[in-house]
Amino acid sequence: MSVFLGACRREPVPYTPIWIMRQAGRYLPEYRELRARVDFVTLTRTPELAAEVTLQPLRRYPLDAAILFSDIMTPLQGMGVPLVFEPGPIVSQPIRTDAQVDRLPALQPSDHVPFVLESIRLIRRSMPRDLPLIGFAGAPFTLMCYLVGGKPSKEFAAARSMLYAQPDTARRLLDKLADAMAAYLRAQAQAGAQALMLFESWAGLLGPAEFRTFELRAVRRVFEALRPLDVPLIYYANQGATLLEDIAGLPIDVAGIDWRMPLDRARAMLGPRIGVQGNLDPAALFAPPEMLERQVGEVLRSAGDAPGHIFNLGHGIWPETSPDAVARLIDNVHAQSSR
Ligand code: CP3
Repeated sequence: MSVFLGACRREPVPYTPIWIMRQAGRYLPEYRELRARVDFVTLTRTPELAAEVTLQPLRRYPLDAAILFSDIMTPLQGMGVPLVFEPGPIVSQPIRTDAQVDRLPALQPSDHVPFVLESIRLIRRSMPRDLPLIGFAGAPFTLMCYLVGGKPSKEFAAARSMLYAQPDTARRLLDKLADAMAAYLRAQAQAGAQALMLFESWAGLLGPAEFRTFELRAVRRVFEALRPLDVPLIYYANQGATLLEDIAGLPIDVAGIDWRMPLDRARAMLGPRIGVQGNLDPAALFAPPEMLERQVGEVLRSAGDAPGHIFNLGHGIWPETSPDAVARLIDNVHAQSSR
């Protein structure tokens, strides 16, 4: 049994497992080298290359889990939504009307994303048996931000105003995305993903009432569809501190916590049934070694002794991060937490 999966199930483990959001990516010279020759979409659509990039950080570091190399927008691209990455996702015909929502097809994993399922099978064949692979998808509201807005933004005004100006259209879109992501994640688990994570990168844009009215039901719909699978479920809501009371009611195993919310407070709100994943500030990787060690200690202390902590950053690793700092982080977490 893997340490990561044990921690997800809130079982006692010999040390705190760690993986890093965006661990496969631009801070790694070997990723940049490959990326200089191959564009991002080709990487995500070619199973041999997606598997190679997934495994790159595992060759370098004693990480406790792999995460599939893909993007939250990849399944939508597979469903026929015209989009490009520059480097963030750009949707050429943003979705604004009921008719456009209705034209989105239901996701058929083996037709729309066969390359993702093949990547997962390939990764599982190439990985050590005790190292688990995390599958993932974007949460409905976060996908909606890009689909309605058409491009990366700080405010996502088009998506947020849709909640007020066209609430029925927004709900229709969120429900459709929820069903698509449930089918997508189920197919990932069937192909071999051993834990499933939903990324809610833009949770911080929603007040608790908007979250409850629109997104909570869509997220619940995804997780309820997946609960019958024997796979840990993780929900990461970036800047979601004010949403944790609602998140505590979801049928999930682990909540991802960003660095703004101390883990002891998150645990108090989530209760003993849900584990926590996080939450070192990505900026802390720029600290001198002794300072980084202290920061790691702080996160471990805040997580406490109860089972159910997976170490991670509070959000994705920055491309400017030194690969040596990542090595120190992982060694530190393992050394300071070993019981
Ligand atoms: O290692 C991993 O975590 C797996 C790979 C992964 C990517 N995207 C690869 C990627 C994962 C899990 C994602 C999820 C993702 N994509 C999220 C949710 C997580 C988060 O960080 O909040 C979001 C919001 C996106 C949308 C997206 N895709 C953006 C904003 C960008 C551009 C800038 C950026 O953050 O990297 C992308 C493109 C993208 N996705 C890249 C990578 C490695 C860069 C593409 C390149 O190499 O040019």
